[in-house]
Amino acid sequence: MFHTFVLFCLSWWSLIGVFGTKTNEIQSVSVMEGDSVTLNSDLTEIHEDDDILWKYGAENSLIAKISKERHIFSSYDDAPDGRFRDRLKLDDQTGSLTITNTTTEHTGVYQLQITGAKRSSKTLSLSVYARLPVPVIISNSSHCSSSSSSSNCSLVCSSVLNVCDATLSWYAGISVLSSISVCDLSISLSLPLEVEYQDKNTYSCVLNNPISNQTTHLDINTLCHTCAGTTALMIYVCIY
Ligand SMILES: *[C@@H]1O[C@H](CO)[C@@H](O)[C@H](O)[C@H]1NC(C)=O
Ligand SMILES: *[C@@H]1O[C@H](CO)[C@@H](O)[C@H](O)[C@H]1NC(C)=O
Ligand SMILES: *[C@@H]1O[C@H](CO)[C@@H](O)[C@H](O)[C@H]1NC(C)=O
Ligand SMILES: *[C@@H]1O[C@H](CO)[C@@H](O)[C@H](O)[C@H]1NC(C)=O
Repeated sequence: MFHTFVLFCLSWWSLIGVFGTKTNEIQSVSVMEGDSVTLNSDLTEIHEDDDILWKYGAENSLIAKISKERHIFSSYDDAPDGRFRDRLKLDDQTGSLTITNTTTEHTGVYQLQITGAKRSSKTLSLSVYARLPVPVIISNSSHCSSSSSSSNCSLVCSSVLNVCDATLSWYAGISVLSSISVCDLSISLSLPLEVEYQDKNTYSCVLNNPISNQTTHLDINTLCHTCAGTTALMIYVCIY
């Protein structure tokens, strides 16, 4: 009796284990805004008695349905709110779902449910990242005119974003000097840097998200020219 009970517990646990891995395994997919992405069904072919459902988001909105037996083969691109309009393509061989011309609004959780001879489900987490603008480096000229830091050039790197998942950093060579990734209401990032005019390092300002980056290299001679020029001119004026 006791043995049977242990056996029962073991098989119960292993059952939970199997379900646990099946439902908790979330596949992550990342793309750049504007790209197409295919949510893979992992099927090589759809069986005659398979029903396939694709659902999106917390509300589990039905966005596509295949029932080979009943000749249903539809995507519902008005669900939940039109964000998928004219963007869904179903593969009639595999049941994979392609979203074309993605926007950041398509970020979210997608669920594939297959019912038929074998039941299975699959969860995908899609992240669509915005295309990043090239960061802009300007010299902070007001700071430059203050005589206290005449051997230094004050710079600011900045970027205006329409999303919050990006980081702006100053690099000297390949080392990070400073970073900022605050997302406030204005959604603009700016990061200062102080360099000496004679500095021979190569500085760059990098805006990056998890899948891409945009880099602007600092040209000290061009950007810090005005400050140096003023100093040089003053010396020139004094000599004469
Ligand atoms: C992609 O979507 C944007 C709006 O989200 C639209 O302006 C653009 O025309 C679309 N491009 C294509 C090729 O459909
Ligand atoms: C320029 O430097 C001054 C003084 O350090 C600072 O108050 C100001 O915010 C800086 N300007 C920009 C655009 O960062
Ligand atoms: C000038 O810049 C250097 C290095 O960037 C810094 O250590 C120093 O404190 C700065 N000097 C002034 C007067 O701001
Ligand atoms: C920027 O992206 C390129 C590839 O596109 C990569 O080689 C480089 O290391 C990245 N730079 C940074 C600072 O992340």
